[in-house]
Amino acid sequence: MYIKNILLENFRNYEKEQIDLNKNINIIYGNNAQGKTNIIESIFLCAYGKSFRAKKDRELIKFEQDSARVEIKYKKIDREGSIKAEIKDKKTFYLNGIKQNKISDIIGKINIVIFTPDDIEIIKDGPQRRRRFLDMMISSLRPNYIHLLNNYNKILEERNNYLRQIKLENKKEDLLDIWDTQLSEYSYKIYEYRKYFINKFSEKIEDIHNLITKSGKEDIKIRYISNSKDKKSFLENLKKSRPMDIKRGFTATGIHRDDFMIYINNRQASIFGSQGQQRTVVLTLKLCELEIVKEELGDSPILLLDDFMSELDEKRRESFLENINENQVIITCTDKINIEKNKIETYFVENGICRKVKEQN
Ligand SMILES: Nc1ncnc2c1ncn2[C@@H]1O[C@H](COP(=O)(O)OP(=O)(O)OP(=O)(O)O)[C@@H](O)[C@H]1O
Ligand SMILES: [Mg+2]
Repeated sequence: MYIKNILLENFRNYEKEQIDLNKNINIIYGNNAQGKTNIIESIFLCAYGKSFRAKKDRELIKFEQDSARVEIKYKKIDREGSIKAEIKDKKTFYLNGIKQNKISDIIGKINIVIFTPDDIEIIKDGPQRRRRFLDMMISSLRPNYIHLLNNYNKILEERNNYLRQIKLENKKEDLLDIWDTQLSEYSYKIYEYRKYFINKFSEKIEDIHNLITKSGKEDIKIRYISNSKDKKSFLENLKKSRPMDIKRGFTATGIHRDDFMIYINNRQASIFGSQGQQRTVVLTLKLCELEIVKEELGDSPILLLDDFMSELDEKRRESFLENINENQVIITCTDKINIEKNKIETYFVENGICRKVKEQN
């Protein structure tokens, strides 16, 4: 799929701007703090219903204004469509002009895979960051997954509240049975989805890693870490940890604690990997994601590379781009980079104005 154009109105430092994109490679360059990432952020907003960096939606509205609008027109293999986001006191989304009741209804319409320098956190940070990576990908491919996760989190919160009431107000412990049964049912379903997609990564990770490192010397593996494997053991674990949970006031076991680990030559990459190896692992993971999304959709997702190319030297840049022929690619960078490829459109961004630099083909 590809984005035909983006309309920004009072979004971040843009007043009113329409950006027409090439369906192949788009390079957006400019100095720091001019509005490059803001463009990436607007696409992300229409793909996932939220920003990847703003804590509050209010931050997305141009200073001194009271509402912002982003509209993206896209083309998929079999149809065209548009997503519009309106941010005022609340956030509203429109799909093909029709107001959507739930934000989750727009997730998965615009399919993106995003690379940013912060992605190294997927390897370096704790399990929460890895779960987010996985959950976002699955959510965009399986609408039902968002629903399962939301329900799980709601029930988890209720259980945690009740755990504290048992401790502080001597409430009856038996009532926990209801939440435990519900949690274990959702856990099992979520576990199945995660297992399916980790398996997909597992099938691809070695080949893709070899392609990037061009060595074949590194043996890479991914492993899903979850403390249960079937409905029964999810429930048993909850029962087992109940006395401790009551003492601590929260639920210490379940899929909200899941993780995955990457091993290079049988050693955990997050602990023993060098900086360069960790960066390469992130690249491998993201390229796996790209393949998986493409396989699942039967269409190529849009690749967003925010400030990412600056981390690769020219050779690695070329070999990276060699592997992504069919995707629309949107690259931001501070220096105008040269890529030996056809069908490139270049844009220059300065103080919230984005202009095409030259036409090719
Ligand atoms: N709500 C807002 N209203 C107006 N301007 C904003 C708003 N939020 C951020 N900005 C401005 O947008 C600019 C940052 O934009 P962006 O993050 O896209 O920069 P960038 O071009 O990606 O820079 P870098 O190369 O440093 O990553 C800053 O000048 C900031 O002050
Ligand atoms: Mg930026």
